[in-house]
Amino acid sequence: MLRLAITSRLLCQQLIRREVAAGLASLHSSTSSSALSSARRLAHTHGINSARSLSTSQPKLQSEEVEVTFVRANGERVKAKGKVGDSLLDVIVNNNIDFEGFGACEGTLTCSTCHLIFSKPDYDRLPEKPSDEELDMLDLAYELTDTSRLGCQITLSKELQGLEVRVPATINDARS
Ligand code: FES
Repeated sequence: MLRLAITSRLLCQQLIRREVAAGLASLHSSTSSSALSSARRLAHTHGINSARSLSTSQPKLQSEEVEVTFVRANGERVKAKGKVGDSLLDVIVNNNIDFEGFGACEGTLTCSTCHLIFSKPDYDRLPEKPSDEELDMLDLAYELTDTSRLGCQITLSKELQGLEVRVPATINDARS
């Protein structure tokens, strides 16, 4: 029975890897950042290291890079770069940053695991206010503050250069 379960899990992982590889192959010539991010999120969710196979060089976009610092609950600072148009979830996935459980629903606004806490000035300069759906999901997040947002709903713009956000110590996956 155990052997059967292990075999099925291995087969499942192989199928997922094939699916990711096929997705990557079809995206290879694409310059769509969001399409690449979707493939990366799929790989991230299933624990597949996509860094090498998804690496693309787009020098013309370097000027549109935005640096973001994520601060863990223990004070550790993790610096990362994203592109204009990426979400903060994309930045974490694309840089292979390991925040356990973060982004579990892959940005479909159903989990609240991408909860991030902003400083008041940064919160106020975010270009878009939270939607009702985001606010509903935030209500389910642990350690909620007045300046909390969901990382999958924050889109990088040049104006957010140098953004710093706190990652809560605990997460709540609203789906479970
Ligand atoms: S990743 Fe699930 S709500 Fe943002």
